[in-house]
Amino acid sequence: MIKNDPYGDLSDKDFKQISDYIYDNYGILLYPKKKLLVKSRLQKRIKKLNLNTYSEYCKYLLNNEDESVEMIDRISTNKTDFFREVSHFHYLREEILKGYFQDINTNGLKIWSAACSSGQEPYSLAMMLEDISNTKKFNFEIMASDISISMLKTAKTAIYPFALINQIPDNYIRKYLLKSKDNSKAQFRIAPEIMSKTKFFFHNLLADKVKYPYNFDVIFCRNTLIYFDRETQAKVISKLLNKLNNNGLLFLGHSESLINMNLNLEVVYPSVYKKNYK
Ligand SMILES: C[S@@+](CC[C@H](N)C(=O)[O-])C[C@H]1O[C@@H](n2cnc3c(N)ncnc32)[C@H](O)[C@@H]1O
Repeated sequence: MIKNDPYGDLSDKDFKQISDYIYDNYGILLYPKKKLLVKSRLQKRIKKLNLNTYSEYCKYLLNNEDESVEMIDRISTNKTDFFREVSHFHYLREEILKGYFQDINTNGLKIWSAACSSGQEPYSLAMMLEDISNTKKFNFEIMASDISISMLKTAKTAIYPFALINQIPDNYIRKYLLKSKDNSKAQFRIAPEIMSKTKFFFHNLLADKVKYPYNFDVIFCRNTLIYFDRETQAKVISKLLNKLNNNGLLFLGHSESLINMNLNLEVVYPSVYKKNYK
């Protein structure tokens, strides 16, 4: 329990209003046991807004459209790593090298990292693709999106704590990372040629339209569906499939599955689905 909470209690009614708002706008399910977490994550925001209680914040949220992104930025869970669930990267690399994407040399490869958090996933993809595109000679472009404005800001800055470097293969460290010039800062930076292949934008997976007019060859949407109920998962998957080329590949997190969703998809690898429309 948060001792001496300056903003008092978060009543069940206010918690329900906040959690309904989050569910309706972003699809994320917040069970009542998350009440303490919601309280602690909103405290700094309430202070910044000079409000006195959670109840006042709740009213503020419901009456100020712009507060939506500020609130979800504090509530969303953004855990990520470089080369997380690494077998997916190995699988994609091998398929590209074997010639899975037939027109890659003329059309290039378009990838969407659809819930990219602070950028580790799209930069991992960019490093891997840059590495193989030198021999296989193809262009690629990675679009990466999220609903967290602070995570997108970190992603665009492309500077990470040095402690994360051991998640990245040695040959990529040598080729695609720059150590901070300031030795007092234990940080590294993603090299400009990798950054230039990766574009970030705000996108809510529940939104009807995606900013980019073209379809993708590969979509990563990993470790995000777990925050949604089955109905929202089905909606999100259908929107993602609308943006995936036929024979394109959809990557989900290892603990996520599309069982019983009745989709025209072929499982080609654990948590990897091929869009298979005749
Ligand atoms: C646990 S992280 C996963 C990051 C990365 N895909 C990975 O597997 O490491 C989940 C991300 O999904 C984002 N997210 C949650 N709901 C979303 C929504 N409705 N639209 C877009 N992104 C969402 C969160 O902001 C968070 O950054």
